[in-house]
Amino acid sequence: MKDLLVIGGGPGGYVAAIRARQLGMKVALVEKDKLGGTCLNRGCIPTKTYYRHAEIMRSLQRLDEFCIQLDADSARLDMAGTRARKDAVVEQMAGGVAALLQAHGVEVIRGEAVVEEPGRVRVGEESIRAERLLIATGSESIRPAALPGAALPGVLTCEELLERSEIPGRLLIVGGGVIGMEFACIFQAFGSQVTVLESLPRPLAFLDQEIARRVSVLFKRQGIEIKTGAKVESINMQDDHLLVTASDKKGNMQYEADLLLLAVGRSPATAGLNLDKLGVKTEQGFIKVNQDYESSVAGIYAIGDVIGPPMLAHVASEEGRAAVERMAGMDSRLNYQAIPHCIFTFPEIAAVGLTQEEAAARAIDCKTGKFQFAANGKAVAMGESEGLIKVICGPDDSVLGVHIIGPHASDLILEASLLVNLGLKVEEALHTVHPHPTLGETLYEALLDVQGRAIHLKPPRI
Ligand code: NAI
Repeated sequence: MKDLLVIGGGPGGYVAAIRARQLGMKVALVEKDKLGGTCLNRGCIPTKTYYRHAEIMRSLQRLDEFCIQLDADSARLDMAGTRARKDAVVEQMAGGVAALLQAHGVEVIRGEAVVEEPGRVRVGEESIRAERLLIATGSESIRPAALPGAALPGVLTCEELLERSEIPGRLLIVGGGVIGMEFACIFQAFGSQVTVLESLPRPLAFLDQEIARRVSVLFKRQGIEIKTGAKVESINMQDDHLLVTASDKKGNMQYEADLLLLAVGRSPATAGLNLDKLGVKTEQGFIKVNQDYESSVAGIYAIGDVIGPPMLAHVASEEGRAAVERMAGMDSRLNYQAIPHCIFTFPEIAAVGLTQEEAAARAIDCKTGKFQFAANGKAVAMGESEGLIKVICGPDDSVLGVHIIGPHASDLILEASLLVNLGLKVEEALHTVHPHPTLGETLYEALLDVQGRAIHLKPPRI
């Protein structure tokens, strides 16, 4: 008899299992596929590997700018080798997860778990008992069944595209969300001609609107074609390529593509768990939980993508930690108002807290401060000066949101996350000396600008 049985070995499940062991529980974890889940095997880590390859390809296009004399025009990416390197990175990291679970004394059971009743799970022939069950089964890419041609060969989810060894000449991406735009930037840098079809008025429409407008321009400047307000109607095979029909308010249009990536969202992975029969309540398929992460059935808990957005690896890990700490009687919780998110496009995007539009919707009389990377010495020296940092503050100058487009946005958001999470005011943040020459000075100046006293900005004309 275990104290806790975790179903799913992704960043939610394995972190929960390790934390539960630290708290003295007897823990088992069931995984049907590979340890590390989507994040490690089919998401964050493989795409970050490709992102690095794309970064190098982009640098090769700019050798002139850096006065390097080399004929880079003939540079071609060996996609089979790139994929093999990605697999090696994944294997190395997955080995690390297995070793950690073993070192912490988590029993790992291989196979598919079916919940027979609260406290009892079957894996193949084996029946396992545990006082509490924690479901951390994650999510999977949506392949819209109603879309004609969605099952054709060459119509891929992001997981499937990561397993291909060719660079498509023409890549059509349906969905200009996070996955769509990350893959668009990577494959454009690899040499594909990328077209994105997005049904909303702009890609990454959930971002602060000023930021979303700015990145849209930067994406187009890279050569990515973006068609907004467009809905895909059907996909057909024509000779050796795909013929995609889409519509907007002006009528129908057609696109030819060698591969098509479906990036229209993800759905919770609950099939086969037997939740319906047990009466576990769901909403649009996501498991409903209370503040203890306990479902409508006592003793069955859930965390991560399977309980709904934000579907992010770091949220799953934190929910896993909080859930098991609460089982152990601790008052752990997450501040869902201060969850940072990072988008690995060119340039990177990162944000935490309220957008200007969300602040307005809450009738907050907000102030903003902005600073461009073009005025930051480190960014200019790096040749990465596109973008800006925008800070949203309440009337009392408390930092409510920070939005970044630019170099290392995903690293810069850490300081911003502390400010928003701790509810600090601009003045308090400015008490911390920011080192020079760093990209972090951009945040410092944006904070100063909230009070109209940025040093490296000309004063407004009166
Ligand atoms: P998403 O919900 O972010 O974007 C899907 C996009 O597709 C939306 O903009 C939507 O308007 C559009 N769309 C839907 N149906 C369409 C149609 N028929 N025609 C044209 N456009 C259509 O979903 P996505 O990008 O698949 O990502 C799924 C989840 O994975 C997200 O919750 C995201 O947060 C997470 N994720 C996060 C990453 C990160 O933090 N860096 C990386 C990858 C995924």
